[in-house]
Amino acid sequence: MNTQGSRHVNVDDQLNDPAFFATDRYYALFDRLRAEDPVHWTTSPDGRGYWSVFKHADFKHILNEPELYSSEREGVMPAVDAEMSAVAKQAMGVGENVLTIDPPRHGEMRKVVSEPFLPRALAAAEARTRTLIGGIFDGLPADGEIDLVTDLAVRIPMAVICDILDLPEGDWDKLLGWGKMAIGGSDPEYRQGTAAETVSQGYQLLYDYSLRTASARRGCPFADPLTALANATVGGRPMTPSEIAHNGTQLMLAGFETTRNAFSGGVLALLENPDQMALLREDPKRLRLGVEEFVRWSDPVISLMRTATGDTELRGRRIRAGDRVMLWFPSANRDEEVFDQPYRFDITRHPNLHVGFGGGPHFCLGGPLAKLEIRLAMEELLERYDGLEITGPVERVQSSFVGGLKHLPVRLRQRTARASAG
Ligand code: HEM
Repeated sequence: MNTQGSRHVNVDDQLNDPAFFATDRYYALFDRLRAEDPVHWTTSPDGRGYWSVFKHADFKHILNEPELYSSEREGVMPAVDAEMSAVAKQAMGVGENVLTIDPPRHGEMRKVVSEPFLPRALAAAEARTRTLIGGIFDGLPADGEIDLVTDLAVRIPMAVICDILDLPEGDWDKLLGWGKMAIGGSDPEYRQGTAAETVSQGYQLLYDYSLRTASARRGCPFADPLTALANATVGGRPMTPSEIAHNGTQLMLAGFETTRNAFSGGVLALLENPDQMALLREDPKRLRLGVEEFVRWSDPVISLMRTATGDTELRGRRIRAGDRVMLWFPSANRDEEVFDQPYRFDITRHPNLHVGFGGGPHFCLGGPLAKLEIRLAMEELLERYDGLEITGPVERVQSSFVGGLKHLPVRLRQRTARASAG
């Protein structure tokens, strides 16, 4: 075990605690660590410890060196106690799910499900996506209070990914419930049993559902990714049931558990920065660039793990084969060496070199889809409503993996005919 830096006991407790990420105090902690200890040895409850990495340049390096920093050895979920570690590997299907397979095998698996997420396919589906999103807005009151997260932000990506995967609307609520367990298992609002049991159960329910659905499509001619998985070959053999189910689960979770946070986090930032809201109202075309700032600002992915496959060095720290390395996204996305005034929410920021979608071979497959959804949803929001006002406490989910807003109560005010004409 590596013993460097054991003086940071309180810091380490905070980094290991999912509840800490339901506060916004972690930004101040990351600022300090970026300056004082950018590659920080972090003790952990499982006794193994791990390296915490905070600088943007180190992210780029690690994400682009998958042979040295593996996603497959132990998976990518930040699991720092023994129970969660055991569950995480099994739940995510390490070595079977595109996210947790190293090159060269990774490329072949990614290709199986890529088609509907490529920019040209998305461009062709834009009108359909707009209609789907418009349908969610149609269900909201013209004037009145909603929870922008549960009534809107979670439903938009759910509608879109279920359309792509050809899943019925009647299944949305149960899928959402299972997604909350899989990703937010540490949060008391979602927990059933221990955090690890909740995560395990959430993944298992999604796994069973994916497998059932994909199996029924074996031999079918449809073009959706679940059918593609059911009928694909990798390495010259058919996909195993476990590979089919883990990849189906990955598409669902990635599809609906991340974009919701970028959209709701971006809306909250606009409400807190009326000058930026005014810029968007003046010219909604600014959204094409502005969506990048939504992602940088809201950091839907908080941390991801890699495992070193050999001895190496990072900023003078000796990393040994088998050491775990944790990438803290909100830190890299506020790195003052890369971002001018990183704590300014600026929808005109250009270039916006955020790492919110990762980098290297595992760069987010759904990034273009997420940006399309956020842009269309914001266009709809601006078009339909004149004003939004926060009416209650804003709550974040307790998660150090994928996180963001859990509740954002707002009052909607319908746009007047005069304002719309203007
Ligand atoms: C704002 C929304 C999103 C964010 C911030 C986000 C973030 C990320 C990040 C950081 C990774 C890299 C993981 C790694 O390096 O280990 C990733 C991978 C991935 N994302 Fe997203 N994602 C978003 C939306 C989506 C959507 C809508 C989908 C659609 C299904 C999706 C599908 C995937 C897949 C399949 C991978 C694995 C790619 C691979 O391993 O080759 N994501 N995402």
